[in-house]
Amino acid sequence: MLTHKGSVEIKTDRLLLRKFNTSDAEAIFSTWTSDERVAKYTSWYAHKSIDDTRAYVEYMTSKNKLSDYNWIIESDDKVIGSINVCYSDEHLEIAGIAYVLAHDYWGKGYMTEAAKAVINFLFNYVNYRKIIAGCYSENIGSSKVMEKVGMKREAVLREQIKRKDGTWGDDFQYGILRQEFA
Ligand SMILES: CC(C)(COP(=O)(O)OP(=O)(O)OC[C@H]1O[C@@H](n2cnc3c(N)ncnc32)[C@H](O)[C@@H]1OP(=O)(O)O)[C@@H](O)C(=O)NCCC(=O)NCCS
Repeated sequence: MLTHKGSVEIKTDRLLLRKFNTSDAEAIFSTWTSDERVAKYTSWYAHKSIDDTRAYVEYMTSKNKLSDYNWIIESDDKVIGSINVCYSDEHLEIAGIAYVLAHDYWGKGYMTEAAKAVINFLFNYVNYRKIIAGCYSENIGSSKVMEKVGMKREAVLREQIKRKDGTWGDDFQYGILRQEFA
């Protein structure tokens, strides 16, 4: 059975994971939601206006039930990304996670560090049984994060996504079971 805890603070060697605040909108807009490079393989489009990001942050802060998990990722007191539970099946005890990091911070192992901490929390404190995540097949960075945290590629969903240029692409689905997580 799941024992929900909400988006409690999680600290790792280099990162702080904490709840969203409405005052984060400016930093989020300038560091990632307005960046086309970050939005290249995401289901959302880069924000054209700070108001889009304010609406997004408003939504994230309104989701504050114990069963909601939405964290801002901070490094050295700077907002650098976010990670959240985007899917939850209470009966099957499965959670899906999603994440995003500002471009300046890519390739430094930050998301692997954040995802490991979140998966540990979801398995060992909330009691989920399985964690899943997915990405566009061409999103090498995201595939590598999932593999580095120990997830296995379980499925290739053919032509399951529509790219921003209107073409169809494949979706990789990854998963990890509690007993596989070291
Ligand atoms: C995907 C993302 C979160 C990865 O974060 P990150 O902190 O850079 O990831 P890590 O550094 O922990 O690991 C990424 C790995 O992929 C590699 N990598 C990143 N981009 C790559 C690319 N385009 N081609 C090949 N390898 C790549 C990195 O070198 C690293 O591998 P290494 O540890 O063997 O050196 C980040 O790129 C991002 O936010 N992208 C945009 C949003 C997004 O796509 N989110 C996921 C949606 S499913």
